[in-house]
Amino acid sequence: MQRTPIIAGNWKMHKTTDEAREFAHVVRSLSPDGKVDTVICAPFTSLNVLVQELQEYPVAVGAQNMHWEESGAYTGEISPGMLTNLGVQYVIIGHSERREYFAETDETVNKKTKAAFAHTLIPIVCVGENLEQRESGKTKEWVREQVLRAVEGLSSEQAKQLIIAYEPIWAIGTGKSSSAEDAQDVISFIRGTVEDAFDAQVAAQVRIQYGGSVKPDNIATYMEQPDIDGALVGGASLTPESFLQLLEGAL
Ligand code: G3P
Repeated sequence: MQRTPIIAGNWKMHKTTDEAREFAHVVRSLSPDGKVDTVICAPFTSLNVLVQELQEYPVAVGAQNMHWEESGAYTGEISPGMLTNLGVQYVIIGHSERREYFAETDETVNKKTKAAFAHTLIPIVCVGENLEQRESGKTKEWVREQVLRAVEGLSSEQAKQLIIAYEPIWAIGTGKSSSAEDAQDVISFIRGTVEDAFDAQVAAQVRIQYGGSVKPDNIATYMEQPDIDGALVGGASLTPESFLQLLEGAL
């Protein structure tokens, strides 16, 4: 099963709207050849300008979070419909920073994942272990539970469209990326978990990214692994030059 590679930049809390517009003007002029699905996941304040500036180009826009409810008294939150109304196509759900700092749980990740599909948004669901879990050999047990909880209640058709990002927490922002072989081992296990939850066809189609200190000089080592379909990149996605180098490295 040939899966289209997908590279997503997670800007986290970076870039004003003006900086986002400037970034889009550079990236779109050198936009990739379409062989790689390309996504920029920006703060809410920049989503509209990115959608407007990139709508003619093969670069999609994603959010970094959303609520699962249609509307309501949830101060500071954004609903799925508000994102689709802007033209946003993807949404990161369950990033470790949201789990750590903003009380995201496997339960809310599942609610948000189902709500994303209900609004034709493609979820990028993040899973990954911390250093203590890695060192105590609990990685696979931990990510298996995160994956199974995230996909509860999804149809097979929805699961085929899902994107899972395996991001070992100890590799995020540290410069200490997982080896490609270790990332392949865990991502292959995650693909097996999806097969257990659905079937072999779904497992063959779901796309799984690696994230955690991915750089232009190491992305190719991940992309050559049979079960790794792309990367979710933080720091190295923040400049147009580096972002484009990541896309080239993914080809
Ligand atoms: O969501 C991607 C992010 O967590 C990885 O960050 O800076 O290690 O590429 P970074």
